Amino acid sequence: MTEEIAPQDLVRDGYDHVADEYFSTRSETPESSALFQEFIGRLPPGASVLDAGCGAGTPIARMLSKSFDVTGVDISQEQINRARQLVPEATFLCQDMVDLTFPDSPFDGICSYYAIIHIPREEHPALLRSFHAMLKPGGFVLLCMGAGDLPGSVNEDWLGAPMYWSHYGAETNLKMIQECGFTVLSSELVSDNFTKPPATHLFVLAEKR
Ligand SMILES: C[S@@+](CC[C@H](N)C(=O)[O-])C[C@H]1O[C@@H](n2cnc3c(N)ncnc32)[C@H](O)[C@@H]1O
Repeated sequence: MTEEIAPQDLVRDGYDHVADEYFSTRSETPESSALFQEFIGRLPPGASVLDAGCGAGTPIARMLSKSFDVTGVDISQEQINRARQLVPEATFLCQDMVDLTFPDSPFDGICSYYAIIHIPREEHPALLRSFHAMLKPGGFVLLCMGAGDLPGSVNEDWLGAPMYWSHYGAETNLKMIQECGFTVLSSELVSDNFTKPPATHLFVLAEKR
């Protein structure tokens, strides 16, 4: 039955439903901490940063907000409600990141943790190009992408709700990021300890060419 639901609807409804359960499992520090610190270190003081697929805003938007002007975007209203409470100093928008338009290229940095993997992979190149367009010249991305090859796939009971994932493997992702106008500065495969079942993801720090 869930196969007939559009992926973005399934993901939005799923994260609305599992918001508390996901929050209780989420670690309190950013994974790939070396790349996260490098990302922060490359941004200018007071930088404008987009957190795409921000969830409840912790730990990523909360940590970025200590030094930067943060805009968080998430497709789930329940996640955005929590983010507004937990990180009141940031701005949060409930929107599908594939539809974002910031025509003035306002961002010095865009980061996205564990969210792009919920978008059909055929849409990833267009999403990366849109990130590129939203960045100032020389801006940076810190992206969490898939490590293995996974065409669209639904788990009917993830933390109590159906959930959808879709991504390419690490090698394809690195090539795609470069083809979308970025220079890859660093990347690493990271196994998390909070998703069920545990999974490995590709983290990539890249600069807009
Ligand atoms: C695994 S959670 C990660 C949340 C947060 N980034 C973190 O590190 O905990 C994935 C988040 O991405 C959001 N998401 C998935 N697809 C999205 C889309 N197309 N646009 C915006 N947000 C999306 C979900 O609603 C969810 O909050």
